[in-house]
Amino acid sequence: MPSSAVALAHPNIAFIKYWGNREETLRLPANGSISMNLAALWTRVTVEWEEREGEDHLIINGEATGGATLQRVSAFLDLIRQQSGLNARANMLSESNFPSGAGLASSASAFAALTLAATRAAGLELDSIALSRLARRGSGSACRSVPSGFVEWYAGASDADSYAVSIAPPEHWALVDLIAIVSAEHKAVGSLQGHALAPSSPLQAARLADAPRRLDLCRRAILTRDFEALAAVAELDSDMMHAVMMTSAPPLLYWQPATIAVMQTVRGARARGIAVCYTIDAGPNVHILCPESERSAVRALLEGLEGVQEVVESGPGEGARLL
Ligand code: PMV
Repeated sequence: MPSSAVALAHPNIAFIKYWGNREETLRLPANGSISMNLAALWTRVTVEWEEREGEDHLIINGEATGGATLQRVSAFLDLIRQQSGLNARANMLSESNFPSGAGLASSASAFAALTLAATRAAGLELDSIALSRLARRGSGSACRSVPSGFVEWYAGASDADSYAVSIAPPEHWALVDLIAIVSAEHKAVGSLQGHALAPSSPLQAARLADAPRRLDLCRRAILTRDFEALAAVAELDSDMMHAVMMTSAPPLLYWQPATIAVMQTVRGARARGIAVCYTIDAGPNVHILCPESERSAVRALLEGLEGVQEVVESGPGEGARLL
């Protein structure tokens, strides 16, 4: 039985967003979601199980990490200790090639890689569905970083049927995500608390009622490589999630002036015939999607835009894998 393993996973950008849980403990989402893994960004996690007393040890990008982060990770590892019957502590090393807490979904890649490395090191050989279900318990969107390429997370009604599957491999569609970083600061309200606020918005019910229609439109747009259709539904879905955020109690407003400037620029460019759209997660940074053929035109639009500090670029990526 191996007692250590190394795995790598990519973060993902949702085209149809996950916002709100129907059940918090099992992290069953209020709606299904669809995303694309981001090849250029990754988190690599090494896990070694050691038979000793005390706490799990976690080093993130060279820094020993305790507090709430370690508590969350240890609670997640308890699920693996239960499944494997292992009574050991974990020594974990997590390294990412992008900043955490900047709305670039580091928890998705980190928990997907951790799930794979920790289960394998514990001697468990789980299939993609079982890994996705387990990763979901660490961070909802992490379940979408387990399968490859373009991915759909079925909301499900129980722990057993809430997981993500690949709907198309990365090479299916040469889409590019240009991430306009307008702030690299840690966000004030993370997604964990944000999900809990979603039901307090009077708009959440309407957002959820319309979700099956948006999921259909998005799935079809991906399968037929119809960028215009993807642009329409991805922007609508992002705007609906932010409308819920802005109208929850207390309200959440993640946008900065530069966020809106980028949104306007993208909309303007599309009106002029450039195939481009935006989508925004729980943060101020803007993900700008376009086909590979429009990449340099879109980059040129972003360069020189006030408030845009940096543009990080990625195409579609593989699923979580052992190294
Ligand atoms: O998986 P979490 O709890 O980090 O939630 C992700 C929430 C959004 O990024 C805003 C939307 C999504 O579907 O990725």
